[in-house]
Amino acid sequence: MSIVNPALNDYLLAHATPQDEVLRDLAEETARTLPERLSMQITQDEGALLTLLARLCGARQAVEIGTFTGYSSICIARALPADGRLLALDVNEEWTSVARRYWARAGLADRIELRLGPALDMLRALPREETFDFAFIDADKTGYPAYYEELVPRMRPGGLLALDNVLRGGRVADPAASDPADLAIRKVNDTVVADERVESVLLPIRDGLTLARKR
Ligand SMILES: C[S@@+](CC[C@H](N)C(=O)[O-])C[C@H]1O[C@@H](n2cnc3c(N)ncnc32)[C@H](O)[C@@H]1O
Repeated sequence: MSIVNPALNDYLLAHATPQDEVLRDLAEETARTLPERLSMQITQDEGALLTLLARLCGARQAVEIGTFTGYSSICIARALPADGRLLALDVNEEWTSVARRYWARAGLADRIELRLGPALDMLRALPREETFDFAFIDADKTGYPAYYEELVPRMRPGGLLALDNVLRGGRVADPAASDPADLAIRKVNDTVVADERVESVLLPIRDGLTLARKR
């Protein structure tokens, strides 16, 4: 199932803030060197949305789970003030070494702290305090329910959580779906909508993006 009408795809991309040279070069390098992984990278319109959202909620402290080659981290970090911080969590040193190069090129190296390892362990090691204004979850899908539970108590009141790929190509609405990743995403979708700690909406942008604002 295609969530975004393919005929409208180019039109949508043409009507979001255009990529600058850094993001364009990063997307091109990822496509050239990691073609089989390119679908993991968020798209230009989603990147523009993350920048807009992080700016709108006045984020100073942000966290990202799933950095890959750095596209979303640049979009988020750009929205932070000069003394703001993005904590970027990923398990892969090779892919995030690409991200580090582009953070330097974007002048964001001092605003982003990368930690390498399993995200759940690193999240659990953070103080259980209301720290973050903005969080983006875009890593292994089976981890989403646990990432969400670890993040909510660490969000400030008014802080925004964004969860990517929450439609799984439409499979979340297919009763026959049995893939563990699809089931984990369905579980977190059901958790978020029933969670009185947040108000939320599931947007049909790309593969689905849930926004949940902590009350
Ligand atoms: C979909 S990609 C992230 C794409 C990125 N947000 C972007 O805009 O390009 C998922 C990332 O999650 C990382 N990842 C997968 N399992 C993980 C885990 N258990 N802990 C931390 N990172 C993990 C992968 O190494 C990969 O870089």
